[in-house]
Amino acid sequence: MLSRRTAHASETNPFFLALAKRRIEGRPTIDLTVSNPTDLAFPYDEDAILSALSDRRSLRYEPEPFGLPQARSAAAATLGAAASQVVLTTSTSEAYSLLFKLLCDPGDDVLIPEPSYPLFEHLAQFDGVHIVPYRLLYDGAWHVDLDSVRRGIGPRTRAIVMVSPNNPTGNYAKRDELVAIAEHGLPIISDEVFAEYGLREVPARVRSAIDIEGELTFALSGLSKLAALPQMKAGWIAVAGRRERVDEALSRLELLIDSYLSVGAPVQHALSQLIGASEVTRHAIRTRIRANYHRAVAGVAGSAATVLDAEGGWSAVIRLPRVDTETSLALRFLEEHGVFVHPGHFFDFREEPYFVVSLLASELEFARGIAELRKMVDDL
Ligand SMILES: Cc1ncc(COP(=O)(O)O)c(C=O)c1O
Repeated sequence: MLSRRTAHASETNPFFLALAKRRIEGRPTIDLTVSNPTDLAFPYDEDAILSALSDRRSLRYEPEPFGLPQARSAAAATLGAAASQVVLTTSTSEAYSLLFKLLCDPGDDVLIPEPSYPLFEHLAQFDGVHIVPYRLLYDGAWHVDLDSVRRGIGPRTRAIVMVSPNNPTGNYAKRDELVAIAEHGLPIISDEVFAEYGLREVPARVRSAIDIEGELTFALSGLSKLAALPQMKAGWIAVAGRRERVDEALSRLELLIDSYLSVGAPVQHALSQLIGASEVTRHAIRTRIRANYHRAVAGVAGSAATVLDAEGGWSAVIRLPRVDTETSLALRFLEEHGVFVHPGHFFDFREEPYFVVSLLASELEFARGIAELRKMVDDL
């Protein structure tokens, strides 16, 4: 009676069962998977945020498929785009869904990086799109395996997704990688939600994929990460490329978005002020992720674990010695050391064992978690 595209395996994963059991037993847990910035004691310019949301213009309904002009301008400025190139959405997830509908028919292929953000699988499946992974390789730094991009392209490929910096590996798309990918002539979807969260300077990166000459490029960002305000529900897509392709894409997007008109008026009227007020939060997040990343590197130095190089984003990847499976190690870390991490296979790492840790955790919790990791690794 229900669609195949919404079917999913219902078995509960052992990590969440073990975590739930600990919570019932009242045992304390250090959670290094935290991702909700509003729960993590970052400073917000609360007065500016709340006053932005009480704009009287929100009392009027103004249906504008691409968003209200002043909101489009504010969003465009974050990517260095023109307002006319920018379309508002409620989130990046919604942006993916719109772009899959715009670019693909059911059964078409989209290339996505591996390892990367696990939600792609669902987002693609809900739109009847088939994902084909291309590899990211690590040799002390992460690189796009351009051969695997080439091998992944087939007659039904409709787009190539890049995530810059990637979640969870933290590598920015480099100019030469983007140029090589653009040469395939396929639309590029560039997820730039973490772009402002560099762990250090990365000279080879581009500011946005829309700065590269290509046939058709879509850059995605939004308040969820840029302003650490996922609850406001505002994201955006900047469209760039060959003039006639951009015009046609915008015209079809207009029809698609006009059928939903999902972005609310209050957030659109508030957008410019919310973005303007966000630097205090971004600065605090940057300070924390940098401190935690360095803590992780220092904490495992000289042990059998390695923190992989990362250039940006909210996560770090730690490679463990191959003495047991990733699942056993992550469960043991939770059971015996009270620390909850994501195993690498959640993000489709092909090899194991890897742990993925959130750099957003408080510095105290993070330091404790890393100290426990050191103990576990030294005991292995
Ligand atoms: C790579 C990436 N893109 C998009 C998102 C989600 O953004 P939004 O809240 O705008 O849907 C996330 C969330 O973690 C992410 O990791």
